[in-house]
Amino acid sequence: MLRYTKKSDTELYKLLEKEVIRQETSLEMIASESIVPIEIMELSGSIFTNKTLEGYPGKRFQTGAEIADLMENLAIERGKELFGAEFLNIQPYSGSIANYCVYKTILDKGDKILSMRLDQGGHLSHGSKANFISQLYNFSFYGINEKNGEIDYDELEKKAKEINPKLIIAGGSAYPRIVDYERVRTIADKVNAYFMYDMAHISGLVAAKVIPSPVPYADFVTSSTTKTISGPRSGLIICKEEYSKQLNKAVFPGVMGSMHLNTMAAKAWLFKHCQTTEFRNMMEQVLKNAKELAKCLQEKEFNLVTNGTDTHLILIDLCNKNLTGKEFEERLQKVGINTNKNQIPNDKLSPFITGGIRIGLTSATERGLMEKDMNIIAEIFDAMSKEEISEKTVEENKEKLTKLIENNEIYNDDIIEYILN
Ligand SMILES: Cc1ncc(COP(=O)(O)O)c(C=O)c1O
Repeated sequence: MLRYTKKSDTELYKLLEKEVIRQETSLEMIASESIVPIEIMELSGSIFTNKTLEGYPGKRFQTGAEIADLMENLAIERGKELFGAEFLNIQPYSGSIANYCVYKTILDKGDKILSMRLDQGGHLSHGSKANFISQLYNFSFYGINEKNGEIDYDELEKKAKEINPKLIIAGGSAYPRIVDYERVRTIADKVNAYFMYDMAHISGLVAAKVIPSPVPYADFVTSSTTKTISGPRSGLIICKEEYSKQLNKAVFPGVMGSMHLNTMAAKAWLFKHCQTTEFRNMMEQVLKNAKELAKCLQEKEFNLVTNGTDTHLILIDLCNKNLTGKEFEERLQKVGINTNKNQIPNDKLSPFITGGIRIGLTSATERGLMEKDMNIIAEIFDAMSKEEISEKTVEENKEKLTKLIENNEIYNDDIIEYILN
């Protein structure tokens, strides 16, 4: 795959070689990461990279679109079947862009949006002050119930009635539970608001039908295609047929320029792959591993936000461990586990320090780890969370991790050889 780069740019090639080694020798537990099938890499770098196109199949602004039209239609048909969607647009470059496209479809500047607070599980593109979108629309936020850490649907309903938003957003980056889609739909109907569900994190689990789908309930469902679904770095939007024309106009020319046909081809492959038993079994195992790891961590007295998980994602509250997310993330990296610091509900610490860390089981499962391995991960987390950590502890746990992952490579030798040559 890199045969020519290897010769033309050795400096860059060496970095890719190092990245392969880094990924193989560490355990990625960042909840938004996955290990893509090799076809996703092939297609993301395919000949479609050369083609510039704007518009939609049959209505392009450039010639030479005959094959690309067939490919985009194939991807759309496969995606619609996979998600049971009335309408699908697969042009968005990523999950964030997909969200902006939905706003552009139904909102005017200054319109009201009710979404989940970022520090309680939402996402930057749902109205964070740090994101430019907060200057365009009028955002209000709902949060979680302090008692159980789950969404406070009563508060959501109360706020919706007070504010009268044009759009209600659910789905987030650090919420480990399945949202009550029906309840949010009912609330949206009561206040005559649109309902958008952002399934960026869970779209693989939804595609595999191992958790319920938001598609029948929401007017718009957005996703990135890099997280549990394990596809290219891109996005998608599902909507009801009645919004299809408006949505297409919002995506192009409203928000985007030419589409990325290379990642679109990878999505076409992905949507077919997601229908296989192999994919379904993998997603089922992700859920089993996440539940098992949650149990093992609780046995080691880690507090989990919402007391567990329904998905691939676990949010650990570190307050009882006298540790910040930043410190713990750094300690885990020393033994070869990558995670990310994450704010916990009502966190007093900044997003750069945080009181928690977020982990996910997609990559670990895709490299072959099973329920029996989860206790070893919990033991490493436990050892690395103690007050004093000696060099010996770091070395012992690094060794433990190496032993756990060395026979579960992310790609076999044949594929590594192909990636690097
Ligand atoms: C809920 C949610 N929406 C959107 C995004 C953004 O996706 P992307 O990185 O593909 O733009 C993320 C990414 O972390 C996310 O968690």
